[in-house]
Amino acid sequence: MGDIRSRKADHLELAATADVGFRRKTNLFECVELIHNALPELDFDSLDTSVTVLGKRLRAPLCIAGMTGGTERAANINAELSALAEECGYAFGLGSQRAMMKKTELAKTFQVRAGAPNTLILGNIGAVQARDCGTPELEELVGQIGADALCVHLNPAMELVQSDGDRDFRGIEETFRRLTNELSVPVVAKETGCGLSRSVAQRLVASGVRHVDVSGAGGTSWVAVETHRAEPGRRPLGERFWDWGVPTAASVAVTAKHFRTVFATGGMSDGLEAAKAIALGATVVGMARPVLIAFEEGGRSGARTFFQQVELELKMAMLLVGAANLSQLMSAPRVMSDPLRQWLSAQGIRGDA
Ligand SMILES: Cc1cc2nc3c(=O)[nH]c(=O)nc-3n(C[C@H](O)[C@H](O)[C@H](O)COP(=O)(O)O)c2cc1C
Repeated sequence: MGDIRSRKADHLELAATADVGFRRKTNLFECVELIHNALPELDFDSLDTSVTVLGKRLRAPLCIAGMTGGTERAANINAELSALAEECGYAFGLGSQRAMMKKTELAKTFQVRAGAPNTLILGNIGAVQARDCGTPELEELVGQIGADALCVHLNPAMELVQSDGDRDFRGIEETFRRLTNELSVPVVAKETGCGLSRSVAQRLVASGVRHVDVSGAGGTSWVAVETHRAEPGRRPLGERFWDWGVPTAASVAVTAKHFRTVFATGGMSDGLEAAKAIALGATVVGMARPVLIAFEEGGRSGARTFFQQVELELKMAMLLVGAANLSQLMSAPRVMSDPLRQWLSAQGIRGDA
């Protein structure tokens, strides 16, 4: 148990300070251009950025993606960022709740509901842990923090780099089938920086999943984080797979039609990228490390300033494509170029749609 807590402490420290970004691969949003509309006939101050996600109304389509819990530092980050989510009308994700499964006194580091009574709060657990425990235990995990939904995260790449990570990833589709049937809250299938392909999306749909967070490649590399932590003998493996994964733009474009909710997470750091993600079919845009860095530099107000800029850019993009609201933004005309088009055509999707 001490191991999980120290791993989570390392994760925060490395994500905040170390070189853990993808090296050569991007999220490919630079391959998407929205077509300018010189006659928008819109009032900037009347643009509507609100959206309903998993039964809750968000003022803007933004989510602070799941990061942490289990330590005092994590508790403070969760309290501050969830309060910001409440103030701004964003969704808020917690980090893996594995630590509180065995040590119930750690539950308080995840309990943000009192300070964020109206916020869409997402619980979080690894798919392998979810497979290995009963639904009542997971129901308890959700209940203890008053979560609106449970993210079940997929992270085989980072586990394989850890010397003591999981190696057996069988039975996960069946786990999704069980949880989508039995759990009282919606289940979100969430990657952690390597993205979801079209065929995985189809298998998730067949397992009853209606909501995903693609968490694609191009932002934080979790292989990189574990490479920093790995013993010297395992580092070459991490170096080799540092940039592994489906770029976020490709992942959103190939999964969007399959699900009711698509969180576009993975290297999202500005409002223009957010607008492009929504134009490709995302419902909400998630951000993890950029928010952590803004918070580490300037506390809650630093994170608030970061998001104000994101919202301004999102609204500017909306006006400049003539979209009064997010459903109009979803049908904004766009141009896609290679290599994004290649990622789409390799998965049987036409890149000019
Ligand atoms: C410090 C930190 C801890 C994270 N811990 C978790 C976690 O416990 N569970 C999870 O599903 N994702 C976790 N993530 C992954 C993020 O939710 C996200 O999917 C990924 O970092 C890509 O987004 P980004 O490029 O905006 O960082 C974590 C991210 C960060 C930065």
